[in-house]
Amino acid sequence: MSELGLTKLAVMKRYWILFCLASFFLFENGCREAEQKKFTDEKWWKEAVVYQIYPRSFKDSDGDGIGDLKGIISKLDYIKNLGINAVWLNPIYSSPNDDNGYDVSDYRNIMKDFGTMADFDSLINGMHQRGIKLVMDLVVNHSSDEHEWFKQSRSSRTSPYRNYYHWWNAERGKPPPRYSLFDINHDAWRYDSVTNAYYLHYFSRKQPDLNWENPELRKEVYAIMKFWADKGIDGFRLDAFQFAAKDTAFPVFPPGYEKKFQLYYAIGPHLHDYLKEMNQKVFSRYDVMSVAEGAGNSFEDAHQLVDADRGELNMAYAFEGVDIAKSEGYSLLHFKEVFSRWDSAFALNGWLSIFLSNHDQARLVSRFGNDSPEFREASAKMLATFLMTMRGTPYYYNGDELGMTNIRFTKITDYRDMSIKNEYQHQKDIHADTLLFLENEKFVSRDNGRTPFQWDGGQNAGFTTGTPWIPVNTNYSFINAALEEKDSNSCLNYFRKLVDFRKSNPVLVYGKYKLLDNDNTQVYAYTREGEGKKMLILLNFSAKNAKADVNVSMAGAKLLLSNYVEGQSELPGESGYALRPYEAVIFQLQ
Ligand code: NOJ
Repeated sequence: MSELGLTKLAVMKRYWILFCLASFFLFENGCREAEQKKFTDEKWWKEAVVYQIYPRSFKDSDGDGIGDLKGIISKLDYIKNLGINAVWLNPIYSSPNDDNGYDVSDYRNIMKDFGTMADFDSLINGMHQRGIKLVMDLVVNHSSDEHEWFKQSRSSRTSPYRNYYHWWNAERGKPPPRYSLFDINHDAWRYDSVTNAYYLHYFSRKQPDLNWENPELRKEVYAIMKFWADKGIDGFRLDAFQFAAKDTAFPVFPPGYEKKFQLYYAIGPHLHDYLKEMNQKVFSRYDVMSVAEGAGNSFEDAHQLVDADRGELNMAYAFEGVDIAKSEGYSLLHFKEVFSRWDSAFALNGWLSIFLSNHDQARLVSRFGNDSPEFREASAKMLATFLMTMRGTPYYYNGDELGMTNIRFTKITDYRDMSIKNEYQHQKDIHADTLLFLENEKFVSRDNGRTPFQWDGGQNAGFTTGTPWIPVNTNYSFINAALEEKDSNSCLNYFRKLVDFRKSNPVLVYGKYKLLDNDNTQVYAYTREGEGKKMLILLNFSAKNAKADVNVSMAGAKLLLSNYVEGQSELPGESGYALRPYEAVIFQLQ
């Protein structure tokens, strides 16, 4: 080849290298921008740590044995000191309390047991002064049968409120079966002699379902929502809303439908239209967050509820994870598979809630951890570490920060929850084994999570000076906030540390999640990564020593947090990382 030819080749080669470098640079930049974008799509509700308060059981200020708004106000500094920045308050509206407030008789008033509207105003002011947002329950799949709408509706077939509810005139014969979750007979149609017709109630007889197909009803609900948004609330949690839309022809469901309530009743026709309308009329006009209770029946359903471009809700609240724990235990592989699957389905679009307990569940540590004296604290802290290090908005139920446990009532008369009492009666009626039923309730009953908050070692755990509406767990003498306050290694103080840690590390909110050591049956290991930061989280979900084989470079790794007093100084090596029972560690990787 001539000299000229060789020079030409060298020049071309140089251009080729430059071209490759430029392309690589552009590609890298593109990726970084995409990653960056995720981090800049910031929303307060994504970064929030939500603390759920069950007002009936939190703090009683007037000695009637029932928690109230003034009680919550008196504990605002405690709440603030948890570090959380949003509170979800279970319903506080006027209610005859068939279902502890989930049966609303006046949406614009406060339940007498809980106080007055003036108390509410002080509560929201107190929260806002402390930088805490308030998310309220919106219970509009159904109302109370004592709501004025229902009183009018049942009074005559020609009442203007008749179509606020679902009625089936008895001369048409019996309506096609519908399942009620709370009814003694599980029959969702209740005959009402006043107008010789049946009304629909998916929950108790005192919770008739509202008719969302009626535009008048929808208008009323949006006005109620605006009433609260104008008062300054920061969000709505939509109770049972996935069941709100119904096919009013009430077609006959296939046999066995009642065992698949969710499948046949959720995401009915026009549900998305209603949510879009709600968004347009209310959500889009205020800086409020919105969370669905539930997430439909598939990822597609869930995305349709919450993807940003849909203009419906902000985040889903999927039950698959919380439903894993059974009285006979659960498999960690299953647990990891569920949380990893949900995370990957929402990695690019939509947003999830992360939770393992709430007012409808038994206690976190008793279901997912180990509430024996030996492991209660370690496992409660380990579970808190999980909740605070996953992608999504963590919801933490009051009392779990202390490691409160199931009360395990032994007699049906101990229970307060109408749904358990009705189910017990049902079991009796069908001659089932009621002892077995009660045994199972010790593990699953939602009253386990509703016993009074354990403030101190005094009378009734400092919850009330009167007779508590539901018994206090006797372990309050050693599990209570006052004691834990003084112990720097308590569950309470560890929880505070964790909340703080999450708040100062946005990678835990927005960063990529990657499951490691997938087949490990004892250890849940994952990384969270983004914006140049990478964290490794190792959680031993078992009561035995365990080893994690994470296979990531640990050069320059730093142990940031551990739930054991003496954190291990050794880093994961060739032979894996040894974890003590229920140990949780967080490393920063280089
Ligand atoms: C879901 C609520 O979380 C639960 O407590 C209530 O009983 C039902 N919806 C009915 O409102």
